[in-house]
Amino acid sequence: MALDVTERYSKSLSPDGIRPTNAPDWIDEIDNPYLHGVFAPTTQAVSAEALEVEGELPKDLFGAYFRNGPNAVHKPKNRYHWFDGDGMISGIWFEDGQARFRNRWIDTEGLKMEAEAGESIWGGVLGPFDFSLPGGPLKDTANTDLVVYDGKLVALWYESGKPYAMNLKTLETEGIEDFHGNWKKLVSAHSKIDPATGDFVFFSYGDRPPYLEYGVVRPDGTVHQAEIDLPGPRRPHDIGMTPNYSILHDFPVFFSEELFKKTGKRIPLFHPDVPTRYGVIPRFGTNEDVKWFEAEPCYMLHVVNCWEEGDWVVMVGCRTKDPSLKPNKEDGKIAAMLSGLKLQANLYQWRFNMKTGEVKEGDIDQYNAEFPMVNASVTGFKNRFSYLQHIPYEIPATFHGLVKYDIQTGSYDECSYGPGVYGSEAPFCPRPDAKDEDDGYLVSFVTDTHDWQSSCLVFDAKNLADGPLAKVKLPTRLPAGFHTTWVPGDQIG
Ligand SMILES: [Fe+2]
Repeated sequence: MALDVTERYSKSLSPDGIRPTNAPDWIDEIDNPYLHGVFAPTTQAVSAEALEVEGELPKDLFGAYFRNGPNAVHKPKNRYHWFDGDGMISGIWFEDGQARFRNRWIDTEGLKMEAEAGESIWGGVLGPFDFSLPGGPLKDTANTDLVVYDGKLVALWYESGKPYAMNLKTLETEGIEDFHGNWKKLVSAHSKIDPATGDFVFFSYGDRPPYLEYGVVRPDGTVHQAEIDLPGPRRPHDIGMTPNYSILHDFPVFFSEELFKKTGKRIPLFHPDVPTRYGVIPRFGTNEDVKWFEAEPCYMLHVVNCWEEGDWVVMVGCRTKDPSLKPNKEDGKIAAMLSGLKLQANLYQWRFNMKTGEVKEGDIDQYNAEFPMVNASVTGFKNRFSYLQHIPYEIPATFHGLVKYDIQTGSYDECSYGPGVYGSEAPFCPRPDAKDEDDGYLVSFVTDTHDWQSSCLVFDAKNLADGPLAKVKLPTRLPAGFHTTWVPGDQIG
């Protein structure tokens, strides 16, 4: 069949027209760029030791880089959205200048049921929706984010799902994480671990009241939980965290409850006349303790970092100034997805005065960059550096280069992955006994669409513009992915 829409976005496909290796046959029947090119799912879950290295791996790089992302197993039941794919974790472990690799699907309840049926049971976020399916109309894929809790790698889903725990050495799914039996409800992706206290600061959102839940699981498993009043169902994607506060998000991008009740349709629209609201809540606060601040209408997927400065709480993030979905009619039924995935965002700062209620906000820089990471040890504290992906507007959701921002000055260094090579979110890996915030390494999975070779690049974070120190050849092609984490070797055991 003709893949017209896919061809229109062909810059994300192989420039030489070579089919992605190990992709399932069924993609050839579906005109959707997020099932082709650098996004094509793989059919392979592999393990490999002593990987070939170009350059030299630093001997003090000790730990593992894990990436979550969508990797559909079965042919979609209806319109496919990039966010729908079954969660797959890819991991690379470094020790003594050597590397090993493994990738595994997250063995979710939904994937098990579909494997038994031999086909898709759930449709995707573009609908139509079947509310009679177990767990609701969407399959909980756990495909979005990763945290480490209680010695396990825990995968989280952006629609608020069951947290799936995996073994840090094998990536085998160990089951649903219930936090010592004390929290069995859903949590959203971008719930966070406080690296100083080990608190798991979580939130979840839904289409029906309570529209937002917030809470903290302490390292001993005790839970604090609060239901937060919102005017209606909202789509927060992230949360801010400082030692004393969390920052909740209420963006004016939401769907009509009336339409949802009548038709089950969840079509989020930007309401440019409605302010954004940020709710600053003490870490162990309740709904009554939330101090709401109004700011310019916008949307934001990802927070860079937050901190406290006297009476002020500061948040830096990748802000989308105009989140209106302006679909290109030629793109047919997936037009809304394609316009939404342009990920137009630039670095922005908000300041909230806890005493006077004043809000200050403004751009840090205009460059289009997303998927921010910081040195985990500065989470919640005023810091300088963030590491982001350069995402050109015209090519939705492809990561073209690694950008190191000084968020205090707005200046940046960049290293391009090269023509036809696309990268992944790049976490910071501190050197042992590091003195400076940027004393360490950055790692990124990349795929070269000329020959479909995937690799892991290792950069010196202080000298990003010099290019990678080492390129580790991976044993299988990796499709583009979502979020990542770095786990120091002493936490893996
Ligand atoms: Fe995200």
